[in-house]
Amino acid sequence: MAVAETLALPPPRLPPGATLAHALESRHSSREFSSRPLDPATLSALLWSAWGMNRPDTRHRTAPSARNWQEMDVYVVTADGAFVYDAQAQRLKLVSPGDHRAATGEQEFVAGAPVNLVLVADLARMADATSDDRALYSALDAGCIAQNVYLYCAAAGLGCVVRGLVDRERLSPLLHLAPGQRIIVAQSVGYPAAP
Ligand SMILES: Cc1cc2nc3c(=O)[nH]c(=O)nc-3n(C[C@H](O)[C@H](O)[C@H](O)COP(=O)(O)O)c2cc1C
Repeated sequence: MAVAETLALPPPRLPPGATLAHALESRHSSREFSSRPLDPATLSALLWSAWGMNRPDTRHRTAPSARNWQEMDVYVVTADGAFVYDAQAQRLKLVSPGDHRAATGEQEFVAGAPVNLVLVADLARMADATSDDRALYSALDAGCIAQNVYLYCAAAGLGCVVRGLVDRERLSPLLHLAPGQRIIVAQSVGYPAAP
């Protein structure tokens, strides 16, 4: 069945009763995932936590960015396709149909993780910055998003791991990235594998 060009996400709802203290205490990296897909409500809350609009009237986000450049885009790679997260509309936009999960990393588990996020910086949005500053601040900004993902996952009982081991030359064309777009890191997310 063809995948829709856009997928609306339900309004994001954080896990009831979750506390920051519990999320900080239980945050960790995991590399073994169940094949169970994330339901739309969980995916919506995950993406909103990562890089959603928390002050929509001023278009500010759940994660900070240097000089409020907001140069990051979150790509979402599932068994159905690769999508880009549209935080303003809280929806996914298809960029490439098909299962590209294996191409998001160099470790075996990435092919089976239900969701692989790819954090991509559009350096063209970092006006007036030197190339050193673009590299530095886009990495820092991606780190803020990655930690939001870790904390959401800890709160929601999901596993995740942020990954620098990405074959950027292989993955960039699959995501149809423009020359100024750089993959910073990827992050695998899923329910923990059964013990
Ligand atoms: C920038 C960065 C890159 C990382 N790259 C990888 C990676 O490519 N593969 C991997 O399995 N873990 C990767 N990790 C996860 C670390 O190995 C992990 O955070 C570390 O072992 C500490 O474990 P903890 O997260 O459970 O505290 C990375 C972590 C960071 C912050």
